Amino acid sequence: MTEPILRMSGISKSFNGVPALADVSVDVHRGEVHAICGENGAGKSTLMKVLSGVYPVGSFDGTITLEGQPVAFRSINDSEAAGIVIIHQELALSPYLSIAENIFL
Ligand SMILES: Nc1ncnc2c1ncn2[C@@H]1O[C@H](COP(=O)(O)OP(=O)(O)O)[C@@H](O)[C@H]1O
Ligand SMILES: [Mg+2]
Repeated sequence: MTEPILRMSGISKSFNGVPALADVSVDVHRGEVHAICGENGAGKSTLMKVLSGVYPVGSFDGTITLEGQPVAFRSINDSEAAGIVIIHQELALSPYLSIAENIFL
């Protein structure tokens, strides 16, 4: 098996002492499509926010490697620069823009 393009290993994240993610590991190999499934509150969004730097390095335990290289994202800008793009489920609409402008946004 080739090296995964993405490896999240031993990811744990708590909010005020309440664990949202406990030792989660995911490998993604080139060309694969994955679905992460779970009930509301299972931690799907939190895992993606860890991946994308919304929760910066140091605010969670575990490691992330891209193409075998450890990464330490401090922001969404960092993860986007590395080629990670998140389409968030929760839409942030602007009440001051038209529907068309919101869709474009
Ligand atoms: N910013 C936050 N502050 C406190 N608790 C949070 C926060 N974000 C998520 N949680 C909690 O973490 C758990 C996982 O949430 P989440 O990742 O949004 O789940 P999912 O996306 O699978 O529905 C839930 O118990 C949720 O209430
Ligand atoms: Mg979610």
